[in-house]
Amino acid sequence: MEASANPALRLRGLTKRYDDGTLALDALDLEVPAGSFFGLLGPNGAGKTTLISAVCNLIRITDGEALVFGRQSGTLEARRQIGIAEQEPNLDRFLSVRETLVYHGGYYGMERRAAEERAEQMMEVFDLRAKRDVRAPKLSGGMKRRLLLARALLHEPRLVILDEPTAGVDIELRHELWRYIRRLHEQGTTILLTTHYLEEAEALCGEIALIGGGRIIARDSADGLKQRYEADNLEQVYLKTVASGRLAEGVA
Ligand SMILES: Nc1ncnc2c1ncn2[C@@H]1O[C@H](COP(=O)(O)OP(=O)(O)OP(=O)(O)O)[C@@H](O)[C@H]1O
Ligand SMILES: [Mg+2]
Repeated sequence: MEASANPALRLRGLTKRYDDGTLALDALDLEVPAGSFFGLLGPNGAGKTTLISAVCNLIRITDGEALVFGRQSGTLEARRQIGIAEQEPNLDRFLSVRETLVYHGGYYGMERRAAEERAEQMMEVFDLRAKRDVRAPKLSGGMKRRLLLARALLHEPRLVILDEPTAGVDIELRHELWRYIRRLHEQGTTILLTTHYLEEAEALCGEIALIGGGRIIARDSADGLKQRYEADNLEQVYLKTVASGRLAEGVA
């Protein structure tokens, strides 16, 4: 029963109120088609990371529903489909680069040999071979980010979620990363990306959702959004829609 007709993500009435009363997601509806390269854009505090955390079962949803390729988020089947590189590096301080990757494979049910081979590949792709025996706390910020990305992709997920993947990474990795992610996308992997680099989103994402105050404000292709908001580029669309007032004031 392969659910290929299902969207990668179907969110209905997704609501998250944190314990302190903050309403981070406000009955949000969103569909991310299978096979799309999807951008989720919005200002600091808009609810992007909360949405992703809800989908990946890292936080408890207050209300609503999240389906991953038709499966309830949080189930083993749903979790196995997803590879996530979180915004905040969360690496085990006691594991080396190589161990981080191999153990992750094991955690996702890969055979030891397969996980080891895949770990080698990922260290190659993300240029981490020289650091293979180094523990996470001794990696530079950008190297930690590389390891997060390598780990997210290790088990060959159908849906790759990247929360600000290029924050703090050097230009070389940025190019390398996008080349690799584009290739994955061409092979059928669904990509969900958040970024504050709007040119990056415009170049990469076939579809874009703008999020503000825990709700989807608009959702279209980059071209569709530019037409609708009579804008020359995505940055103008952003400033006209979801940007906080202090920035938008400067834009006629
Ligand atoms: N653990 C938490 N407890 C209480 N409030 C939280 C928690 N995590 C996030 N929030 C609040 O929820 C709202 C949405 O935060 P979220 O991290 O989802 O935003 P974001 O769109 O990812 O922003 P950024 O671009 O800065 O990463 C914010 O008001 C934030 O302060
Ligand atoms: Mg965030």
